[in-house]
Amino acid sequence: VKHLLDIESFSHDEVMRLIQRALYFKQAAAYPNFSSTILGQLFYENSTRTRISFELAAKHLGMQSIDLDIQTSSEQKGETIEDTVDTLAAMGIQLFVIRHAENGLPAKLAANCSPSVQIINAGDGTHAHPSQALLDLMTVMEKKPDLHALKFVIIGDVRHSRVANSLQALCALLKVGQLVFVAPKMWQPQSLHYGLATESLAQGLKDADVVMCLRVQRERLLSNEVFNLAQYQNDFSLSEEMFRQAKPDAILMHPGPINRGVEMEASLVSAPQSLILEQVKNGVFMRMAILESLITPS
Ligand code: CP
Repeated sequence: VKHLLDIESFSHDEVMRLIQRALYFKQAAAYPNFSSTILGQLFYENSTRTRISFELAAKHLGMQSIDLDIQTSSEQKGETIEDTVDTLAAMGIQLFVIRHAENGLPAKLAANCSPSVQIINAGDGTHAHPSQALLDLMTVMEKKPDLHALKFVIIGDVRHSRVANSLQALCALLKVGQLVFVAPKMWQPQSLHYGLATESLAQGLKDADVVMCLRVQRERLLSNEVFNLAQYQNDFSLSEEMFRQAKPDAILMHPGPINRGVEMEASLVSAPQSLILEQVKNGVFMRMAILESLITPS
């Protein structure tokens, strides 16, 4: 695979190779060196986890990493993003990590930019966030490797979540036993091709093995979507008491960033069952596996 645009472009075996490689990097004492590769980071939306973990992943692999400051770049003088990418490619940047509000923009760049360019989608609008879904499944598999036996529950603003879209595609590819989305009516999945959706938090959580809460993405709400915080907290915010509906050994996840007290009770964030910081840690190793696979295709 030349680019990382979405999960749908990957086969089951390619995904499993990435997860195994990321797990290997997690315990390896030394890493391969790709000192002739330069990574360009173009973030048109805010990020902490994705941007810094790609930068650290590049550094661990001996790559140079350049972070373009969009606000001071020549795009402010009218240059298109395609011309920006081609300009940076002419200077020797090969891999581009792109986060943008426009659905499908990474695929458009992959199709239209110089053939030397390789695009990594770090989140495009409400469409996809494939590296996040991959690190999430890596984290699940470390604790619960038998994916076919799992009940995986995803709670919250599914409709605007690129993470939920990529997780749905990945759960379908890896044949996760049960996938359940719990969301209010207005945030039910726009497209559901794997799993089922419910408005009942108690029903969704019952006997769950993996529980993931999603951030309420206020910046993506449409003008006709009225968000009632108190109602949401009452019906969908995960409390310690509600979490007990899941299996006793259930794991708790969140792709971040978290709004404490909105998606889940603040005490759950650091509860023993929470793998939220493990997801962040695994993000570096998964992104190392992604970078390596793109520059050394099998
Ligand atoms: N999960 C995620 O994409 O986090 P950031 O927005 O901090 O990169």
